[in-house]
Amino acid sequence: MKIAIAGKGGVGKTTLAGLLARSYADDGYRVLAVDADPDANLASSIGISSEQLEGIEPISTMKKLAKERTGASEGYGSLFILNPKVDDLPERFCVHHKGVSLLLMGTVDQGGSGCVCPENTLVRNLMKHLLVGNDEVVILDMEAGIEHLGRATAESVDVLIVVVEAGKRSLQTAAQIEKLASDIGIRNIAYVASKVDGDADREFIMSSVPISRFLGMLSMHEQIRGADRQGSSPYDAGGDILVEVQSIRRSLNDLLGRKASQH
Ligand SMILES: Nc1ncnc2c1ncn2[C@@H]1O[C@H](COP(=O)(O)OP(=O)(O)OP(=O)(O)O)[C@@H](O)[C@H]1O
Ligand SMILES: [Mg+2]
Repeated sequence: MKIAIAGKGGVGKTTLAGLLARSYADDGYRVLAVDADPDANLASSIGISSEQLEGIEPISTMKKLAKERTGASEGYGSLFILNPKVDDLPERFCVHHKGVSLLLMGTVDQGGSGCVCPENTLVRNLMKHLLVGNDEVVILDMEAGIEHLGRATAESVDVLIVVVEAGKRSLQTAAQIEKLASDIGIRNIAYVASKVDGDADREFIMSSVPISRFLGMLSMHEQIRGADRQGSSPYDAGGDILVEVQSIRRSLNDLLGRKASQH
């Protein structure tokens, strides 16, 4: 299964990505977590320390490797075509922690042009060509905003999870994401609410998102904030957080099962 996570800045995308990654890994899935945000911070949400990160290379440096292996100068896509399995990803791009392999996309040096096209091409090729078995999950933590979706970064994912919080602004972003995502043919778009604090938030969310595609809520947890302060994974805080993540996963399973039976 390939899951992409999007939403307005700061809503809780990386927190959810880290929690899902650890949760699937705990249940025996092989998990590849992909940090597609140039301002990468998925590692700490998974529980990977900065020391563990030292020595891993962002995959954007792979272009050289692609050239070596394929002879093609625009080699990203061909590299993934030649090495389409999660296992084939060169070790120097991955760090492993508690059953999760983390891949950093990194930024491609374009001589100061500021263009992010190469990263988007890279993410798109990775998501498109990676063959994912039944016991494998790929989780793509995307940067805030929506413009990269316009470039079809997420076109081959099984589900795009849009994270929202109880406020009009994140819902406006969600509406734009939904439109772009359906324009580029993303099959399943689902919602998760985060930082939900009390009944007023709950009611707001329930009246604002499409209920048939709503996967569940992550409450406002002091332990999540605490984990962020310490640079540790909120997953290791345990308790209610894990119960909520399990429930989100069950709803996702149901949603994908329902959709599959419609085809
Ligand atoms: N359910 C929650 N309860 C409490 N705090 C939360 C919750 N979810 C996220 N946070 C906190 O909100 C902040 C932003 O979370 P996070 O980094 O996951 O968001 P993001 O959407 O990935 O942000 P960005 O757009 O910058 O990538 C962090 O400090 C995080 O600890
Ligand atoms: Mg983030």
